[in-house]
Amino acid sequence: MNKKTGGLAGLVVGDTAISTVGIEGLDLTYRGYSIHDLAEQSTFEEVAYLLIYGELPNRSELQAYQEKLMMLHELPDEIQTLLEIIPVTTHPMDVLRTACSLLGTLEPESAHYSQQEIADRLIASVPSMLLYWYHFHRDGKRIQTGSNQPTIAGHFLQLLNPEKMDETFRRAIDISLILYAEHEFNASTFAARVTTSTESDFYSAIVSGIGTLRGPLHGGANEAAMDLIQLFKTPEEAEKGIHEMLNKKMKIMGFGHRVYKISDPRSDIIKTWSKKLSEKTNDKSLFKISEKIENVMRSEKKLFPNLDFYSATTYHFCGIPTAMFTPLFVMARLSGWSSHIIEQRKDNRLIRPDANYVGPAPRPYVPLDLRD
Ligand code: ACO
Repeated sequence: MNKKTGGLAGLVVGDTAISTVGIEGLDLTYRGYSIHDLAEQSTFEEVAYLLIYGELPNRSELQAYQEKLMMLHELPDEIQTLLEIIPVTTHPMDVLRTACSLLGTLEPESAHYSQQEIADRLIASVPSMLLYWYHFHRDGKRIQTGSNQPTIAGHFLQLLNPEKMDETFRRAIDISLILYAEHEFNASTFAARVTTSTESDFYSAIVSGIGTLRGPLHGGANEAAMDLIQLFKTPEEAEKGIHEMLNKKMKIMGFGHRVYKISDPRSDIIKTWSKKLSEKTNDKSLFKISEKIENVMRSEKKLFPNLDFYSATTYHFCGIPTAMFTPLFVMARLSGWSSHIIEQRKDNRLIRPDANYVGPAPRPYVPLDLRD
């Protein structure tokens, strides 16, 4: 593979007004607003509105938006039936991919369901899909998927375990959703834009995004990072283990980034929350182990943690099962994908790059009975 363009690295493949990492590649802004300001002062619902509708909502628009999302939590009967027959062993990302696809047949894009309506419906109902499936298969409960929670983070926590409802956990999840919401032409967004460029429907583009996000080089890294951190009982063990893995040329999940070269601006924000929750939950080891891994990666490879690394322990401290980490990324990124689908459609041209052919030169066909 051409080392320079392999994986499309460094190629500009289109315009976007949605987000940028800036000229220096050190910051991240959503429609001009810094991720630092958004994480400190806004909510995920504000950010989703900003991405999908183009501007931050005012107070009454935000209230109406939150009320609208609350009305969209309930699942159609057909989705519930589907969730009941999806095997318990299925990865939750596959559950979401399948359930979103069925929703696309029940509420297809039409004059009745506009693209923004579908975006909002998916954001409101994906937590319900995940947790309906989870509770049904875990203890045979058919949960009510409505909730009185005005935020997606609160709705998720309420359905996961109402007894774990806690404002610090809720805000930690809310901030992680803000950080995960959008990131210009990342792999899953690009996949969604490619699907959109063929004039396919909204749900097909979203399902492309979910399938692409699932892999451990992309969204799946937050689950892989948790598995890695839990391999070790002490920071000393982690130091030794990471050295061994690096000697074997293994990739350490949750480190490195295609676009950022010095640091991921989202990582410090989520690390602060991981530390805060580590103290709140009396964690004795996981945060310290994570910091040790970070130190080794910095000194040995000059690599920094990306958003996925400290998101893993943040979610863990909130009592969230590891297999739900990448689905939480979906809940957030639905807003980014949706805004990119809408943008791609405004000025669409089929995305179809060229290939550098490296196969055999033309040769004569050999009939089947002459091939032995
Ligand atoms: N652990 C060990 N070495 C690494 C890591 C890592 N996590 N990341 C990069 N490197 C090394 C590579 O081995 C390679 O070394 P080499 O030049 O000696 O062969 C060099 O750094 C460049 O790495 P590439 O994989 O070529 O960089 P690329 O830009 O293609 O990949 C990626 C970026 C996929 C994120 C990579 O850093 C990686 O695999 N990280 C681990 C998975 C991960 O955390 N993904 C989450 C991404 S962020 C997100 O989705 C929110």
